[in-house]
Amino acid sequence: MKHLWNLDDTFTFLNHGSFGAMPKAIIEKQHLLRLHIESQPVRHFQIELDDLLDASRKKLASLVGAPPEDLVFVPNATTGVNTVLASLDLSPGDEILVTDHIYNACNNAATYVAKKTGAKVVTVHVPFPVESEGAVVEAILSAVTDKTKFVLIDHVTSPTAVIFPVRQIVSELSSRDIDVMIDGAHAPGMIPLNLKEMGAAYYTGNCHKWLCAPKGSAFLYIREDKRKRIRPLVISHGANSTRTDKSFLHLEFDWTGTDDYAPYILVGDCIDFLGSLYPGGIGELMERNHNLVVAAKNFLCEAFECPPPCPDRMLGSMAAPPILPLGEPIIAPSGMSLDPVKERLYNDYRIEVPVVSWPQAGRRLVRISAQAYNTLSDYEYLARALKEILST
Ligand SMILES: Cc1ncc(COP(=O)(O)O)c(C=O)c1O
Repeated sequence: MKHLWNLDDTFTFLNHGSFGAMPKAIIEKQHLLRLHIESQPVRHFQIELDDLLDASRKKLASLVGAPPEDLVFVPNATTGVNTVLASLDLSPGDEILVTDHIYNACNNAATYVAKKTGAKVVTVHVPFPVESEGAVVEAILSAVTDKTKFVLIDHVTSPTAVIFPVRQIVSELSSRDIDVMIDGAHAPGMIPLNLKEMGAAYYTGNCHKWLCAPKGSAFLYIREDKRKRIRPLVISHGANSTRTDKSFLHLEFDWTGTDDYAPYILVGDCIDFLGSLYPGGIGELMERNHNLVVAAKNFLCEAFECPPPCPDRMLGSMAAPPILPLGEPIIAPSGMSLDPVKERLYNDYRIEVPVVSWPQAGRRLVRISAQAYNTLSDYEYLARALKEILST
């Protein structure tokens, strides 16, 4: 399948998870759409845009099991999380609960809002390797107090690549009357979703990762009863619109100023494209990617005699085997660690794969991704490269 993507042939690309990668067919569609937009920009923005957004949203809604009325596009999951946090009505002493597997940017957003409101971020330690779904639920519930007002939980954790049992977490917390936001940055296109059934108050997911959409496409799901309290970070024409053909939510979020909305418009095309790769549609793609990453993880764990990161059923199409001892990462100005092993994999072997320092478990994790363009031989090459690096 690699010929369908635009990836550099000289690299072994094992990091679909970080920023996705667009198939050539979608790059071409984006180019054509931009040509069309620039052929008559006013027609595009004033006449065509609403219908194009609605058509794309409808396909996305069907994929993620949510009513289109509850879905809005946002540029990325970071914006989705910030949007909800900024709309919360927090008071001094309130607690926002997160886990230590949270994505750094979202933790920063929670910390920022907490500081402004006098609330407090409580970070729950979820032991890694993760033993079971029950261990995650237990850790989270053990930290709930009568001050817990909001819980922000990853669906698929970024550094450790574990699927958290979000349905169970939402159900337990809802019964305690606590609102939950699920950060599903990695989930759309990686695992089947049914947001309505899941029942979370808020859910954000990226389309530019596992749906292979253009960068700058994500969504925010807002459960119907919460619709009125969530406003976009950018207030624009929608706020005082007298239009009656669109909901207030869509009026506000569908226009946040002049921008390139092509990434949102193309989400539906991406769903169609990924659904066309195998006879079983996108479901088969997810299953194949899962099977490949499990095989790759087994191979690596055996080769490096390390424990599995979690039960296979808690993996989607990424896995983070704790292969390496804790080392001295070089901290780049961005705050992201440039691991020396990662550097050698990149420079000497042309392998793109993140190495994550996980001091909580005293290990460094090699987070592999599996997308349609990967094969088991990619991970065998990674294992050979790691063996050589570790022996020198
Ligand atoms: C769990 C999680 N949340 C949020 C993000 C941020 O995604 P974005 O940069 O698209 O906002 C990521 C990115 O990898 C992530 O893994």
